[in-house]
Amino acid sequence: MPPISLTGIKPTGNPHIGNYFGMYKPAIALTQKYLGLYFVADLHALTTTPERKELQGLIYEVAASWLALGLDPEKSVFFRQSDIHEIPECTWILSCVTPKGLLNRAHAYKAAVDKNVETGRDPDFDVNAGLFYYPVLMAADILLYNSDVVPVGLDQKQHIEITRDIAENFNRTYGKTMKVPDGVISEDVQSIPGIDGRKMSKSYGNTIPIFAPEKELRKQIMRIVTDSRTPEEPKDPDTCNLYQIYRHFAAPERLAEVHQQYLDGGLAYGALKQELAETILAYFAEARRKYGEMINDHAYLDDLLGQGAEKAREIARPVLARIRKAVGLTR
Ligand code: TRP
Repeated sequence: MPPISLTGIKPTGNPHIGNYFGMYKPAIALTQKYLGLYFVADLHALTTTPERKELQGLIYEVAASWLALGLDPEKSVFFRQSDIHEIPECTWILSCVTPKGLLNRAHAYKAAVDKNVETGRDPDFDVNAGLFYYPVLMAADILLYNSDVVPVGLDQKQHIEITRDIAENFNRTYGKTMKVPDGVISEDVQSIPGIDGRKMSKSYGNTIPIFAPEKELRKQIMRIVTDSRTPEEPKDPDTCNLYQIYRHFAAPERLAEVHQQYLDGGLAYGALKQELAETILAYFAEARRKYGEMINDHAYLDDLLGQGAEKAREIARPVLARIRKAVGLTR
């Protein structure tokens, strides 16, 4: 069996170019050397109790995004987390070697508590136990397949560390059973600013979505914030938001020209935004076409995800059997 690269992505809606460079692209590249186990993290999505219909739509969106952006379901194992019934069992067993204090320190939980304390509320106000358990569920996702590498964005770094801690605790308690995985953290995502210069994030509303209708995509690109320098004035590409986005898409020769124009003067932001819109549309033309074909074909997506789940469970079953044996759950 080839080494395994595994990652999950929460169904939170239309992926943006930051997600693409930070997550989809490096994860898909890894499938050249690794068996990719990539899944829609729909169980994790429940921690925010989304509305039922909305969640279902979002699951198809992420699934279609993975496929449109180039994941080959024949060569990889592509599935829905919730189809793997071994996951909740593994989560429970792992929770019993997880110090509660480790979870107290997890960023998402801690941020919720800190906010409550600041506003004079009970520390656990409005925090469900699912949110608290989130890192253990994620450790189960990773450890259940003996994953070798886990490509994730920088925001998931702590979750990988927690997973490694849990695996090591398990091995210390029950003998070497778990493979301790390595995170593959893409720094790249940090270097793509949002249209307002902050980190590109759905919660800031500053993203450039990949699969939005063309008109909306263009509008968002034209809203990229720049300074008020006139075309004639020299400009600094390193601190310019527009350039920092543009550089990911432009052909190298064209990028060098634009870079020079920044330094010399003679570059109009408006014109470069237009060019960026064309470049992004061309860059994702094939992906956008595929996405359009798939997004409403739920039967196709369901079928594919179902087949992926079968394959994933075949990998998971013997690992879970070993885990059960290690803790004494088999006769
Ligand atoms: N927590 C990850 C995110 O928010 C999603 C995720 C769930 C995941 N399980 C995983 C990522 C296992 C890597 C490995 O993006």
